[in-house]
Amino acid sequence: MTALPQRIGVIGGGRMGAGIAHAFLMAGATVAVVEQNATAAAQARDRILDAVAGSVERGAVAPDPERLLVTVTWEALSGAGLVVEAVPELADLKREALRRAEDLLEPDAVLATNTSSLSVDALAEALERPGAFLGMHFFNPVPASALVEVVDGTATSPNALQAVTGWVRALGKTAVVVRDSPGFASSRLGVLLGLEAIRMVEEGVATPEDIDAAMTLGYKHPVGPLRLTDIVGLDVRLDIAEYLARELGPRFEPPALLRSMVAEGMLGRKAGRGFYLWPSEPR
Ligand SMILES: NC(=O)c1ccc[n+]([C@@H]2O[C@H](COP(=O)([O-])OP(=O)(O)OC[C@H]3O[C@@H](n4cnc5c(N)ncnc54)[C@H](O)[C@@H]3O)[C@@H](O)[C@H]2O)c1
Repeated sequence: MTALPQRIGVIGGGRMGAGIAHAFLMAGATVAVVEQNATAAAQARDRILDAVAGSVERGAVAPDPERLLVTVTWEALSGAGLVVEAVPELADLKREALRRAEDLLEPDAVLATNTSSLSVDALAEALERPGAFLGMHFFNPVPASALVEVVDGTATSPNALQAVTGWVRALGKTAVVVRDSPGFASSRLGVLLGLEAIRMVEEGVATPEDIDAAMTLGYKHPVGPLRLTDIVGLDVRLDIAEYLARELGPRFEPPALLRSMVAEGMLGRKAGRGFYLWPSEPR
């Protein structure tokens, strides 16, 4: 198995960055997380330590606290063999963060983005060494998700790709390699299934419960496509569908029912109602 680099950097310690930092810490690496200010750094640290405490409760060995640094000082990234960027999904913000990290890294270090939708090639334009750059699309919540989509940019070197797929395995996860393309593999297929399920509700083919049961019982999906749409958020799904319709064509055109539910505030679990009623607060 490929050994992880001894030192890992993570830019942005929010929901995903904290999960990524936790994964590398538990796998034995020393992790430096860079945040935008002291308040965000303190929150990121708490998030990571909570996740570590959860793992230890479940029987994992506690990592040496010295192996985690959460800081606002970007120089903490220097010496890392891999840096994963996990700042919000804004192309300019990501470009700036990636460029700043690249300046601090050795030429053989790998730089990755956790973007869930942006083009890896477009982000690579900001970089001097695009061969050492690729996408590492972790899923939420990171500890419970076995998959990492590794997004292979046009300029990504075979060495970087091979190293990263090995590191994903060292984390105990499975890597799928996807060419840089809209929606990668997961969103492209998952969103299409969700949109077709919504069209079936619209046409009165079956109830949401029965459509979901057809997929959970008949196809062994862990969650039906409409319940999953509620969990993700109908507004989030609408944004992705509009983007994929622009990039890939009309088969991703959002159904009228999705638009009207979003307009009425039926956004799914976070709003208490979507295709289902969600009476209690989400955990
Ligand atoms: N949330 C998900 O389900 C999910 C799943 C897969 C991928 N992603 C992707 O992961 C990335 C992060 O998403 P998230 O949900 O963790 O967001 P988030 O808002 O929870 O976290 C972003 C973090 O980045 C920090 N940040 C902002 N600007 C920064 C800067 N200039 N330098 C350093 N840190 C900065 C913020 O303080 C925050 O802690 C996005 O690209 C998103 O598309 C999200």
